[in-house]
Amino acid sequence: MEELTDLIVATDPASGARLPVRLDTVIAQLTAGGQDRAARLARRLPVRDGVLVAEEIDALQIRVHCELQRLGEELQLPRRVAEWLLRWRAARPGEPLRVVDVGCGLGHVVRWLAAYDALGPGVDLVGVDLNRALVGRAAELAAAEGLDCRFIAGDALAPGVAGDDGMTTVVISSGLLHHLTASALPEFFAAQRRLRVAAFAHWDIDPGPWTTAGAWIFHRARMREPVSRHDGVLSARRAHPASVLLAAARAGAPDYRPACTDGPRWWPRLSEVLRPVTGTAP
Ligand SMILES: C[S@@+](CC[C@H](N)C(=O)[O-])C[C@H]1O[C@@H](n2cnc3c(N)ncnc32)[C@H](O)[C@@H]1O
Repeated sequence: MEELTDLIVATDPASGARLPVRLDTVIAQLTAGGQDRAARLARRLPVRDGVLVAEEIDALQIRVHCELQRLGEELQLPRRVAEWLLRWRAARPGEPLRVVDVGCGLGHVVRWLAAYDALGPGVDLVGVDLNRALVGRAAELAAAEGLDCRFIAGDALAPGVAGDDGMTTVVISSGLLHHLTASALPEFFAAQRRLRVAAFAHWDIDPGPWTTAGAWIFHRARMREPVSRHDGVLSARRAHPASVLLAAARAGAPDYRPACTDGPRWWPRLSEVLRPVTGTAP
C-alpha cells in the first residue's frame, strides 16, 4: 500500500534534482496494489504530456503538509519532542548541541523549538527534507518570524548533509518511519550510527484499531485535501508496531540501546498516538 505523497514526487538521490513522474506509472503502481480509490484520486492530479505538473504538485504537497501540521498541533508534538530533548540534555549541561529533524516537511517542530527557545542557548536547529518545495516554504516561514533555525534540502542521512562535523548531534523525526518498509528500517538506524549521532528519537504512529478509527475521524473533521485524507488514514494502517521498530533499531544500531513502547492496544492515550523510538550512543 502506497501513500500518494510518496508516489507523486521523485528526486534523484545523488544530485537532489527533481525527476519527472508519469501519471500512468503512478496509476499502475496503485492499481497493482489494489488501491483503486487512490488511483481515482491520482487521475484528478494536474498533468501535462502525461507527466505530473511539478509546480502544481509542489503546491499540493505544501497544502497537504499544512494540514499535517494540524495533527502535530493537536497532539502537542513539538512540546513532547522538547521535553524528551531537555531530559536528554540535562545529563550534558552546557554542551553545544545540534538537533536535526530528518524529513522535517514544513519544519513545524524545528520552528516551534526556535519560536519558544525551548532548548535554551547553544542549540543549532536544522530541518532537512528531500523535498525542496517543503524546505523552501519552511525557510520562508522561519524568516517571516525571524526564527533562529535553518533548513536544508537533501538526504539527512547522507554524509555531510546535516553537518557531521563532530558537533554533538541528536537526530529526530516525526511521521517518517511508516514511509519506510520494515526491511528498510535497519539501514535507517545504521546510517545514523555511521554518522555517529549522539542520540536519535523518531516519533511515529502507534498502530492499532483505535488509532486507525481515530485517524479516519480526525482527517474527516480537520483535513480538506482528498490526498491528506487518503494518506493520513493509510499512515495509521502502515505504521510499525514497537516490536518491529525495536528489532530494526537493534539490528542497525545495537549499541544505542534502543527503546520504544506501544501504549495499550484497546485503550490508547491520545497524547501517545505518536510515540518515539529512541537510542543514545554508548
Ligand atoms: C510525512 S512527511 C513528515 C513531515 C514532517 N515531519 C511532519 O511531521 O509534518 C515525511 C517527509 O520525510 C522526507 N524524507 C524521507 N526520508 C528522508 C531523508 N532521508 N532525508 C530527508 N528527508 C526525508 C520526505 O520528503 C517527506 O517530506
